[in-house]
Amino acid sequence: MAKSPAPPLTSRLPCLLATLALSLCTAAHAAPKFEDSMAQRTLACTACHGEQGRAAPDGYYPRLAGKPAGYLYHQLLNFRDGRRHYGLMTRMVDPLSDAYLLEIARHFSSLEVPYPAPQPADVTATVLQRGEALARHGDAQRRIPACVQCHGSALTGVAPDIPGLLGLPRDYLNAQLGAWQTKQRRAHAPDCMAQIAGRMGADDVTAVAAWLSSQPVPDPAKPAAALPAPPPGGETWRCGSAPAVQAAQGVKP
Ligand code: HEC
Ligand code: HEC
Repeated sequence: MAKSPAPPLTSRLPCLLATLALSLCTAAHAAPKFEDSMAQRTLACTACHGEQGRAAPDGYYPRLAGKPAGYLYHQLLNFRDGRRHYGLMTRMVDPLSDAYLLEIARHFSSLEVPYPAPQPADVTATVLQRGEALARHGDAQRRIPACVQCHGSALTGVAPDIPGLLGLPRDYLNAQLGAWQTKQRRAHAPDCMAQIAGRMGADDVTAVAAWLSSQPVPDPAKPAAALPAPPPGGETWRCGSAPAVQAAQGVKP
């Protein structure tokens, strides 16, 4: 793909959709030769999500590369089935089968591409400290669990279903937590993230998004293989899209 500044999305769209129609849709019917052609077939996706799904520099489109495959797969189902809303995404994944969506998810999950430098935080030190405290320890008074409890002690996620929280744009993090609060985004029930976001105030969301987006992504950035031990005496959490959360606490799904 050309390295020159991308033309505005509106002028790229017809071409994007045409590329998609030619590649993804016909591919779903043709004999699959994924190894050679998945990069080609997902060009319509990388037009927004950046080369190889590494996230584009405009600061909103989320990265896809290297995220846990189960997580990416659940998101594609969520867009297709109306638990997440972004018209252009939904239209693209709408005609695709579960099997093909899983194939796309595995493709992006397998890509190891470098992360961008973290965004400098434009908030006060106090706000950053609050963000870090929420991420590492939660807030017992407001019953907000630590993000590390599920997103992994390095916050790089836990395979196969829980995404990392580092390397995401601040605007994207703010928007996602806000979308859970307003029920615009939903995960498979029971939706633990909806409960957690619901306990956070606007200032908590600002703080945690500012801190997370200003942290460097560790190298390697791979998701952890297993969840950390849950804190003793902590609340019991159930996440419909991540059965490992229940298993780590020794509770039935
Ligand atoms: C027109 C731009 C555009 C195109 C083209 C596009 N996406 Fe997206 N995608 C987005 C936006 C914007 C979001 C975040 C939406 C939101 O706020 O929830 C997103 C979110 C996602 C997510 C969720 C990521 C996460 O971390 O939760 C996945 C997975 C995804 N897209 C995959 C794809 C795939 C696969 C394709 C190609 C079939 C594709 N996208 C094409 C704009 C696009
Ligand atoms: C009890 C487990 C649990 C805890 C604790 C938790 N999360 Fe999550 N989180 C999840 C799961 C599971 C998902 C994937 C949801 C899905 O499949 O859509 C997720 C997804 C997310 C996403 C979406 C990422 C993306 O790429 O779109 C954000 C943002 C997020 N969590 C933020 C947080 C923050 C901030 C905290 C700490 C205040 C936190 N989470 C604590 C389980 C948890």
